[in-house]
Amino acid sequence: MTLPTTQTSLTVKQLYDRESCTYSYLLIDPSTREAAIIDPVRELFERDMQLINELGLELLYTIETHAHADHVTSSGKIRQNTGARIVFGEASGIPAIDIAIKDGESLPLGHFSIRAIATPGHTSACTSFFADGRLFTGDTLLIRGCGRTDFQEGDPATLYDSITKKLFTLSDETIVYPGHDYNGQTSSTIGEEKKWNPRLGNSRSKESFVDLMNNLNLDMPKKINEAVPANISVGINYDPKRYLQHEFTMNDLHQVWQKLPENCLIMDNRTPEEFAKGHVPGSLNIPLGSENDNIGKINTYDKVYIYCRSGRRAQTTFTNLSFQGMEHLYCVSHSGMPDWIKAGYEVES
Ligand SMILES: [Fe+2]
Repeated sequence: MTLPTTQTSLTVKQLYDRESCTYSYLLIDPSTREAAIIDPVRELFERDMQLINELGLELLYTIETHAHADHVTSSGKIRQNTGARIVFGEASGIPAIDIAIKDGESLPLGHFSIRAIATPGHTSACTSFFADGRLFTGDTLLIRGCGRTDFQEGDPATLYDSITKKLFTLSDETIVYPGHDYNGQTSSTIGEEKKWNPRLGNSRSKESFVDLMNNLNLDMPKKINEAVPANISVGINYDPKRYLQHEFTMNDLHQVWQKLPENCLIMDNRTPEEFAKGHVPGSLNIPLGSENDNIGKINTYDKVYIYCRSGRRAQTTFTNLSFQGMEHLYCVSHSGMPDWIKAGYEVES
């Protein structure tokens, strides 16, 4: 009996970040030693580089499924060290990358190719990648779950279409490798998810999915105010203090308000009804969801301070606007109007 001497399939190494539960993947053509890495994590740069060097790989690409909110990428550093090209979905509009890949385009990797599938919904620029029967879904499709849709231009109806009309049309045997798993699972298949995914498997309707996603009420990721802006610059030259200085309390806001410099805006992003009942005097009501229509106006101010009731909506707006390159924002992130009232500060209604 002779044993096979050549390996004909793509090698995939699944790498894990304990802190953010992120999976990174190293894709290798075993015969040419050409490789690509998907979603590498900044803190694990040394581990990944050591592995790449030990295996004698030529790293061609460092691929991002999207601009992550929960960890900072090492793509920029990997590019500096290996010459690998940074790949992002075309819709990301991120300037620091090398390849803005379009839906359906492929990256050659030795005898294989990595095909991009635009899967917006978790973020507007999310891209999944398919190579040799394996599907790397980022946060679009998770094992028995899916990415959230409540920030970074997320949209549940779009996510539903991306998963059901694009990913679920791949063969049932396709292996699903997600960007995260919080329960210790490592992979799934399209067939399994079609049947068992509780969010949208078993032919769940779009309406029911949208309703479910709009009522998850999740907390914001711990690192969002740092990670999203840093990832837009592919993880290099980032200064955490520059982003963390934007975290404000209602007391800080009060100090600013007392001597509000000219051309600064205090923005209340609650609903018009909440705003009418009482707000910070002189603040402007730009309800959550309408900030994109007001970008021109927001950009005319030197500084913009955002608050809401609890900090959740303010953070969402902060992230949405930061994602579009704004750096003059300050966000009241863990308190809001009730704390202003409790402190006895002046209220306008
Ligand atoms: Fe994500």
